[in-house]
Amino acid sequence: MKVLVTAGPTREAIDPVRFVSNRSSGKMGYAIAQAARDAGHTVRLISGPVALEPPADITLIRVISAADMLAAVEENLAWCDWLVMAAAVADWRPCHPAAHKLKKANGPPLIEWEPAPDILATIATRKKQTQLFCGFAAETKPCADEAIRKLREKNLDLLALNDVSQHDRGFDADTNALTIFSADGQRHHLPLASKSICAAQLIALLEKKDAKIK
Ligand code: PMT
Repeated sequence: MKVLVTAGPTREAIDPVRFVSNRSSGKMGYAIAQAARDAGHTVRLISGPVALEPPADITLIRVISAADMLAAVEENLAWCDWLVMAAAVADWRPCHPAAHKLKKANGPPLIEWEPAPDILATIATRKKQTQLFCGFAAETKPCADEAIRKLREKNLDLLALNDVSQHDRGFDADTNALTIFSADGQRHHLPLASKSICAAQLIALLEKKDAKIK
């Protein structure tokens, strides 16, 4: 299969030297890319700014902002059989990033915000019947109803819910625990394990789903 994976955070500029971002390390998305490669799939990895080594035998596409990531996803969408969106994309961005560094002497800036592009929502209607889309939900109060709402609103086949309120899972941890909601109503609980193991299990699930739609 041709697998498109997104990983890491996005950065939204405030001025030429400052940005807003989040704690995503990219570990989950990179583990998914590696698990897909190890299972014999062809992988393109769209990555926000992270401090990880690029995996071997994978096409790496580096991006900075949510707008960049949307453009890269759109460019590679027709190519892929599966899209796995593990990236933590910004929900909001400053409306008017300053052209020059904001001066401390002028006091704290008032920043006007606008929604950043929602990548999955933007591409939702372009999904082909032969494609599988998998999203993630990062929640500090994990809730099945919220996960199912995201699954439906974003026209996903799978949504992996992770609890990001605990130190041993979610953002920047080496381990994760996922509950994977499927559009057909099935649920799979992946207990706490290394992100590599979670990723291999997610790829195995995608392989099973793919066999059903082909
Ligand atoms: O990178 P790590 O440190 O290993 O951490 C992994 C992780 C916690 C970042 C990962 O497991 C995870 O949960 N990624 C999704 C984080 C997130 O943005 O969740 P969300 O519930 O806000 O978004 C739901 C889905 O919509 C996600 O698939 C997201 O990629 C996508 N999205 C979100 C915002 C946006 N503007 N566009 C999107 O497409």
